[in-house]
Amino acid sequence: MTSLRGNNGPRYRHDPGTSAPYETIRLDKLTPIIGAEISGVNLAEPIPNHQMEEIHRALAENSVIFFRDQDMTPEQHLAFGRNFGKLHLHPAAPHAPGHPELMIIKADANSTRANGEGWHSDVSCDEEPPMGSILYMKQTPPHGGDTLFASMYAAYEALSDRMKAYLEGLTAIHDGEDAYRGTYANLGVADKPVYPRAEHPVIRTHPVTGKKALFVNRGFTKRIVGLPRDESAAILSYLCSLAEDPLFQCRFRWQANSVAFWDNRCVQHRAMWDYWPHTRAGFRVTVAGDKPY
Ligand code: SIN
Repeated sequence: MTSLRGNNGPRYRHDPGTSAPYETIRLDKLTPIIGAEISGVNLAEPIPNHQMEEIHRALAENSVIFFRDQDMTPEQHLAFGRNFGKLHLHPAAPHAPGHPELMIIKADANSTRANGEGWHSDVSCDEEPPMGSILYMKQTPPHGGDTLFASMYAAYEALSDRMKAYLEGLTAIHDGEDAYRGTYANLGVADKPVYPRAEHPVIRTHPVTGKKALFVNRGFTKRIVGLPRDESAAILSYLCSLAEDPLFQCRFRWQANSVAFWDNRCVQHRAMWDYWPHTRAGFRVTVAGDKPY
């Protein structure tokens, strides 16, 4: 099979950088590019400062981190999230009773849809999209229900220099209207009069790592500002397909009581609804973010 890139070498040359060894956690990478499983941490307890610094670093170095066998109450889940900033309120999705910051993630035999079935970065239509999302899975199907994560650093790095120069300074409109209107009606959630809409750079700079990441996704990005409609559609189609290249991905196989914590500023994700009629259920705490630049 011929390479799409011809003889230009690997699509993406990963620079692992230099990482000091971890002292308070054990870290096993899922791929060289994205994802790491962390052990030696109890998320239900207050986390000592040095261990918290290492969790922050593990997230910055791997973009999505995973924990197994956690036993958290809703309050402990929320408290873990608050270590990373203010919590974000979802503009549409249902939440656990009495906990507006605890989003319900659930699909079962009666569902007409499942959360996160298409590639997206959470609520990128917000003026200040969430920094990260912490999903705690309580019930898993016998097989399937994996979540895929893709590195938007890698997608950016894989662009040609000419394409990087073309995209620099461009902005795009992200709109929640199509994603949210009517989406939760069968769960008894009434629609809001309007859903968030925002303009963000096509290439954003991560505020912690300083690295550039592609920031357009099929879920929310509608058009690139200032381009003719057909050109915008063609460029967005190219960028979204590039973002979905399996080369930039890891795939997480859930067990009951696993936790995934992804950084929406440099990661897109997609949940697989391949387990109908079985049930997959958990809760998501989402950490607020700032205006992309
Ligand atoms: C989501 O937060 O987009 C859902 C992810 C999942 O259910 O795996």
